[in-house]
Amino acid sequence: MAEARDPSADGTAPDGPPFDGVVYQVYPRSFRDTDGDGVGDLAGMRAGLDHLASLGVGAVWSSPFFRSPMADFGYDISDHRDVDPLFGALADVDGLIADAHARGLRVWLDWVANHTSDRHPWFTASRSSREDPHRDWYVWRDPAPDGGPPNNWIRHFAPEPAWTYDDATGQYYLHHFLPEQPDVNWDDPGLREAQLDVLRFWIDRGVDGFRADAIVLIGQDRTYPDDPPGTPPDGRGWFHWHPSTRGHLAAARRVLDERGAVMIGEAFLEDVDAVLAHVGDDALHLAFTFQLLLAPWDATEWARRIAEVDAAFAARGLWPAWVLSNHDKPRLATRVGSRARARAALCVLLTLRGVPTLYQGDELALEDAEVPTEREVDPGGRDGCRAPMPWTSEPGCGWPDPAWLPLPPDAAALSVAAQEADPASALHLTRRLIALRSSHEVLVRGAQRVLGAADGIPDGVLGFVRELGDARMVTLAEMAGRTATVPAFADGAWVVRIGSDGAAAGEGGTFDGTLPADTAVVLERA
Ligand code: NOJ
Repeated sequence: MAEARDPSADGTAPDGPPFDGVVYQVYPRSFRDTDGDGVGDLAGMRAGLDHLASLGVGAVWSSPFFRSPMADFGYDISDHRDVDPLFGALADVDGLIADAHARGLRVWLDWVANHTSDRHPWFTASRSSREDPHRDWYVWRDPAPDGGPPNNWIRHFAPEPAWTYDDATGQYYLHHFLPEQPDVNWDDPGLREAQLDVLRFWIDRGVDGFRADAIVLIGQDRTYPDDPPGTPPDGRGWFHWHPSTRGHLAAARRVLDERGAVMIGEAFLEDVDAVLAHVGDDALHLAFTFQLLLAPWDATEWARRIAEVDAAFAARGLWPAWVLSNHDKPRLATRVGSRARARAALCVLLTLRGVPTLYQGDELALEDAEVPTEREVDPGGRDGCRAPMPWTSEPGCGWPDPAWLPLPPDAAALSVAAQEADPASALHLTRRLIALRSSHEVLVRGAQRVLGAADGIPDGVLGFVRELGDARMVTLAEMAGRTATVPAFADGAWVVRIGSDGAAAGEGGTFDGTLPADTAVVLERA
């Protein structure tokens, strides 16, 4: 068993959250390819660690690389304890963990606790007969009286039933996602222990934590009631979250605490109290807050959501975990309409109270790839945000042609190599922001207050202040697409620490109150 880690030994203050750095999400298929098959691999992830270390992030969360038939590109696991040959072998994970730790980076894996692949031996056994000891590891129900599915639930990715009929045993099985991803039954003690063993296996191999996939769905209302009439097709299934999840999380938390590992959960719920129902000393350490990822690009709306989320978490002594992009949603730059805005959003993300997560390529302000119909591969229509990360400015940008997906727009000009050479690039901006956060305690531990008209914030501008002792820092972001003036911070006492437009020359001077369209500044009270 791995030795339990002392959270204070690596600089995390005892009164702080279990992790106070920046998280970087790697989507392994698209991060870096070293064997030339057009799909990223674990050796590529290892080769990319210096890039991550140069950004100053504290943890790398990798989407799944376990054995999988890839119906959902790895979120359908057929062996939790092995690596899919596409990505490498177990020894590569050991190497990745060692290399990451040598650079001061923690390694977090994806824990897919709600479902497995339909090819997982657990499911093969479960579907083999109603008497099989694994039968109750999954959710089997008799057909409705008309022979149809047991209830009216709709699965993700297509307006189709969340139940599939299995001829062999004459029952339906539940799958919130693809039919190839049957939901497991967490009320079964055998299944529960097997899933907890997955945690033990990886922690004992040196992993520091997990991102818990679709975690709010593991506790289920075992009466399986129909969804009410008029249930919107969007966000299907997430609202099926059930209070029994908390008890399952408590069991997982004991395993994590015994070994000093942390867990951040995917609680894809807009209601903040519903997210919080899964966080605490006997549950998740952290939960992603998706409120800004789901928000329109509007200063009033961002201010409202930041204030609401922060107040709710702060009231319980917790930190939010902000996220603006991931492998499931259009990229930040695509969603908010321009790279300039994406850069402004990075200034917001990296100065907010809480744990910020970057999705690979956010530091390059990448946009989604245009994926022609004949190259679409994802059953959930998410190919664009999963485009390969451009590393070099040569043709292919470090990938063979064709790679598994087309490259994003302007890949060569936005590659790591090209941006490395440009001090005004998004890459350097991201590094400066993370360095600022690391060197200014106020940005990590300071209290936060969203500013409004009474503080001199004009319409169309988002502003918030961080305060710790005498230290004060303010972030201002112009979100209405027109130059704004903010005289309240132009009294000569506010120094520009960061400007999102890359005008590093302006950094270090006093703020003159002008905020060009679609830009942000981070100011420090001198
Ligand atoms: C959420 C993951 O982020 C997504 O990619 C996946 O399709 C579903 N969970 C199912 O595992």
